Amino acid sequence: MSLYAAFRSIGAYVPEKILTNADLEQMVDTSDEWITKRTGIKERRLAADDESTSDMAAKASQIAMDRAGLTHEDIDLVVCATVTPDYFNMPSTATVISDKLNIRNVQAFDISAACSGFVYALSVARAFVESGMKKNVLIIGAEKFSSIVDWTDRGTCILFGDGAGAAVISATEDKSEAIIDIHASADGAYTDMLITPAPGSVHPMNQANLDAGLQYVQMKGNETFKLAVKTLTKDVKEILEKNNIDAADIPHFIPHQANYRIIKAVGDALGMREDQTVLTIHKYGNTSAASIPMAINDLYEAGGLKHGELMLLDTFGGGLTWASAVLPFAGKNA
Ligand code: UT7
Repeated sequence: MSLYAAFRSIGAYVPEKILTNADLEQMVDTSDEWITKRTGIKERRLAADDESTSDMAAKASQIAMDRAGLTHEDIDLVVCATVTPDYFNMPSTATVISDKLNIRNVQAFDISAACSGFVYALSVARAFVESGMKKNVLIIGAEKFSSIVDWTDRGTCILFGDGAGAAVISATEDKSEAIIDIHASADGAYTDMLITPAPGSVHPMNQANLDAGLQYVQMKGNETFKLAVKTLTKDVKEILEKNNIDAADIPHFIPHQANYRIIKAVGDALGMREDQTVLTIHKYGNTSAASIPMAINDLYEAGGLKHGELMLLDTFGGGLTWASAVLPFAGKNA
């Protein structure tokens, strides 16, 4: 009997505080018009000062577990994708989340793949489940990106937001529920395109590095933009062709929400209609690893995602990393 991995549920947490483009106009030399035209973002959410990545992640995870009809005792692996962990180095955010959810004595670890982290986590969960090693894997994409943004750098501070999304990936013998395919790739030749240089072994935490602002995210925006469009278009076409799926037959194209123009360019290259494409960029900005699960959750809560319907995911981020996935939603209808 073959074992398959099913995407059983989704949950998300959106912080209360809203930062609008008008607010940013007071902080840096920018305008609502520029941000809207170049990115599609109108506002983004910010976590409270005392709200950590794991706080947001635990809330999203509890919803995902409830919707899967599972308790903390059923989860046997916790994987958290984040580049804004509670603690740099250790402990992992996944272990902190496990504690908050009372998930005990199971494997828990973080994945560092920037914006591609959630789809990377999905591929890890699938491998564990299909090998028979785990039954119910909690995967999370959570970011407090505001904690690594330089609020004086208009090239980055207008883009990012905070939030969390989570899903439960469970074993099934029903092939119709199975994740169909996942591509996950990286190219380390582009390390400096999108980077937070410190703290780390290259640039340890010290006053000189702090004074130089190396703890903040740095991005070569325009070059990253061009690579994202080129790479994602190729990758998404390949995953559809490999699985003999026509883009027109995908009801839900759920891309990483980094820039509306990237989403539109990739969607146009695939011939995606607007009603197939899930957009949250206008209200959440780029929430890195949280962006795809937050978008899936929005669709789900709006009643737009039904059991058995196909989702096409694509994402691109620091590393550089990129990933795409085709899978049916195997959860209960909202
Ligand atoms: O999620 C991970 C992957 N990340 C991405 O995929 C992000 C990819 N990059 C982008 O989304 C875009 O490159 C940005 C939105 C970051 C920038 O848009 P762009 O169209 O690539 O602009 P640009 O960097 O080429 O800059 C064009 C102009 C420059 O001025 P000059 O040199 O033409 O006078 C910038 O200084 O826009 C200026 N500019 C701004 N103006 C007003 C840059 N940022 C701003 C700003 N407000 N916030």
